[in-house]
Amino acid sequence: MVKNEKNFYCNECGARYPKWLGKCEDCGQWNTIVENVSAGGKTQSSGSSLNFQNLSISQEKLDRKLSDIGEFDRVLGGGIVPGSVVLIGGDPGIGKSTLSLQISAALSQCYDCVYISGEESVEQICMRAARLGASDSPVKLACETDVDIIINSLGNDVDFLTIDSIQTLQSFSVDSIPGTVSQVRACAHKLINFAKTTATTVFLIGHVTKEGTIAGPKVLEHMVDTVLYFEGEHGNSYRILRSVKNRYGPSDELGIFEMRQNGLVGVSNPSTLFLTQRNESVPGSVVFSGMEGTRPILVEVQALVSKSYFVSPRRTVVGWDVNRLFMILAVIESKCKISFSDRDVYLSIAGGLKISEPACDLAVAMSLLSARSGKAISSETCVFGEIGLTGEIRPVSRCSERMKEASKLGFRKIILPINYIHCPEDNIADIKIEAVDTLMKVVELFGIEYR
Ligand code: TYD
Ligand code: MG
Repeated sequence: MVKNEKNFYCNECGARYPKWLGKCEDCGQWNTIVENVSAGGKTQSSGSSLNFQNLSISQEKLDRKLSDIGEFDRVLGGGIVPGSVVLIGGDPGIGKSTLSLQISAALSQCYDCVYISGEESVEQICMRAARLGASDSPVKLACETDVDIIINSLGNDVDFLTIDSIQTLQSFSVDSIPGTVSQVRACAHKLINFAKTTATTVFLIGHVTKEGTIAGPKVLEHMVDTVLYFEGEHGNSYRILRSVKNRYGPSDELGIFEMRQNGLVGVSNPSTLFLTQRNESVPGSVVFSGMEGTRPILVEVQALVSKSYFVSPRRTVVGWDVNRLFMILAVIESKCKISFSDRDVYLSIAGGLKISEPACDLAVAMSLLSARSGKAISSETCVFGEIGLTGEIRPVSRCSERMKEASKLGFRKIILPINYIHCPEDNIADIKIEAVDTLMKVVELFGIEYR
């Protein structure tokens, strides 16, 4: 007998336990621990043996299918892998149903596509399709929440299945209400099995909970092949589709869309988008040449430094890591002898983009220094580089792409780490390169004075 088999789990957070408890030790919720009557139950080994294979694969299985929605194909790493399971998560109202209907409509021109909704009526979906100009697309549409009925209704020849949303599905082999961890897990398990056995690609739409995770405990993220998050700011029509996990391509890839009256439209040149509302040479504003996945994107970093009336001065950040800001402030204070201790600091990445690259350090430092001194950095200057704790400017990856994008958008000067790697065949002759080795050098070079 197997000892300590973890056969109980929490319905809220997914934590597993060997025995029943009244309170979950992980999330602190009461009465949420249930016994695991797993999807299909734990089957006894039938005594049959495995068929081993080698590592070769047929070309047909490797061929990706294109949806013709360029930004979507890009996020998946250059097309959709047959038989993969893709989870698309996002806040309510962000446009998940719109995106998935557009994808189904586009794919249905060449492939057999099924769209199942557990949230909306057929009429509502048809109205949306009319708005998207997709009424004539041969998508097979149905409204159903029972996962077994859905799977039984599908033949082996379905290429794409869209489920909107996974939280509305239920499996009657599990005794709990739709949306709970056990139901979501059981339904996803059945759909993933279906995808793998029939080579159907399954798109699962998932709602993000208040905590920011899909269906609570991230159970789904472990099960599927690809996780995409659809993000956007309220009151802003731009939407960002970000891959956070991809078994068949790079993660951290980004697709940018604009929500219009007749659906989502891909934005092919995002740099112009994040720079359009730029003012001319204003103190505190610096343009960063960043990489999002495989694509270079220029974004504006803005800083505001004002006299503090608080006991401990404020540090407020939008779109960047606050701990990284603390680090950069500490380096500026200790290495450049410029103090921020009596100043409030506000830092923002314009356009609602979230940046996690350390290559943005130099742009952040320069915007802080510029805001602190009141001296503007020319609007024709573009910056990238990582800052180390001793104040050194460290090299970053993909310098060539960053420089090319800056040059393409008409920047005249680029400030970068001293030992940058650049391919000579890239033609960026019309841009002046200023390579710097330390932050102290930057302060000296630009005459950013402490006042
Ligand atoms: P929806 O796809 O229903 O969001 P989700 O499935 O993520 O909850 O989209 C909802 C919003 O999108 C809604 O506020 C209306 C807007 N929208 C447009 O602006 N243009 C369109 O063409 C469509 C279909 C929706
Ligand atoms: Mg929806």
